[in-house]
Amino acid sequence: MGITASELRIDSRRMKKDFEELSRIGATDDGGIHRPAFSQAHLKARDWFVQRAVRMGIENHVDGAGNHQAVMSCGKNDAATLLLGSHLDSVPFGGRFDGALGVVAALEILETVKEHGVSLDLHLCAVDFTDEEGAFVGLMGSRALSGQLPRQEVDLPSGSSDEFHRALERAGINRDSIFSAGAATGTIAGYLELHVEQGTRLKETGADIGVVTGIVGIRSFRFNFNGRADHAGTTPMDRRRDAGLGACSLVLKARERFIQNFPGCVFTVGNIDFTPGAFNVVPQTASVSLEFRADDIQTLDAMETAVYGEAGKAADDFGLDLTIDKLERTVPVHLDDHMQKALSSAAEQLGLFNVYLPSGAGHDAQAMALICPAGMIFVPSENGASHSCREYTRWQDCVNGANVLLQTALSLAGAQMIT
Ligand code: GLV
Ligand code: MN
Ligand code: MN
Repeated sequence: MGITASELRIDSRRMKKDFEELSRIGATDDGGIHRPAFSQAHLKARDWFVQRAVRMGIENHVDGAGNHQAVMSCGKNDAATLLLGSHLDSVPFGGRFDGALGVVAALEILETVKEHGVSLDLHLCAVDFTDEEGAFVGLMGSRALSGQLPRQEVDLPSGSSDEFHRALERAGINRDSIFSAGAATGTIAGYLELHVEQGTRLKETGADIGVVTGIVGIRSFRFNFNGRADHAGTTPMDRRRDAGLGACSLVLKARERFIQNFPGCVFTVGNIDFTPGAFNVVPQTASVSLEFRADDIQTLDAMETAVYGEAGKAADDFGLDLTIDKLERTVPVHLDDHMQKALSSAAEQLGLFNVYLPSGAGHDAQAMALICPAGMIFVPSENGASHSCREYTRWQDCVNGANVLLQTALSLAGAQMIT
């Protein structure tokens, strides 16, 4: 007797080889990855994906937003597609697992299905989404595919607009083509993503697998304070319009207010740019890149009002002008209950201890959840480290997660072994 679909497992060695190959692209000396969207390293990783699909004998399609989609047809007319994936870009000087694990596992699922001759009722697609991390436009690929990307965010990217233009060109796409990536209604049966937890909850509970219940919404902004450049030695302290002080005041006051009024939520200033930016010049301008996260829209709205209030006060206190660029806005989502159950029972069946938990990190699944049932699997992160070279997940945990992904995909797609 041959094996049944529920006995299928991914090939750990093959997946490890893929993961290690990919980890070398954009590798940094400290064991991390520097692969921001559209950088040379990211383009190389994108090529790697295409080569991997070709090696498997699977057709790859690149859509107008640059998403890679390697599709394995189930051979049935009018079947919908189950998407499996994540992203290959990284934050600057990030870790090897964030995004990459989900893409490598998705490809491995396709390979496993192909080599064992499984009949499915759904097409399977391994997807690599573009710019998940927001070098320019966060969740760009998944929001374009799900038809949720506002034009305004493409017109006002997080990086410089010219750089964005050149970056898109390098990937063979442009600002208009991005909007052609929308999936036709009814073609997507669901989306599943394997990802590292990027926190400590799985380790703390001793769980092998996290079944994600929901994902936070994120809003990001640039607050631009404009003052006056002056000589740092000859301008008395009370005659300055120092844009840097507006920025610093905003950072500290907003932090205080958020901690007091929005317990459990997070607020981060990731960058401040001063111009002209010299020791001996009072800053003329200061641009504060800031984001905050919450799991419901009302709280996000209240946080936005609070931060506007603090920025206005900071500008008044130091005699500055203020403009605000609204950048990324993603909505908080609840992930499909049926998907959660399917993931949990696949984990049970594999003998893996699993817990339900929400995600404080943004993921492509939150864009996909707006157009189809979406589910996410987390595997434990050592010390909770992520967006850092310290990011690490034990290989057995990666394999466990990939097997949960495999078994869930097989059960959703009605898998039968071809005898
Ligand atoms: C994505 O990784 C995010 O949560 O910033
Ligand atoms: Mn990330
Ligand atoms: Mn990620």
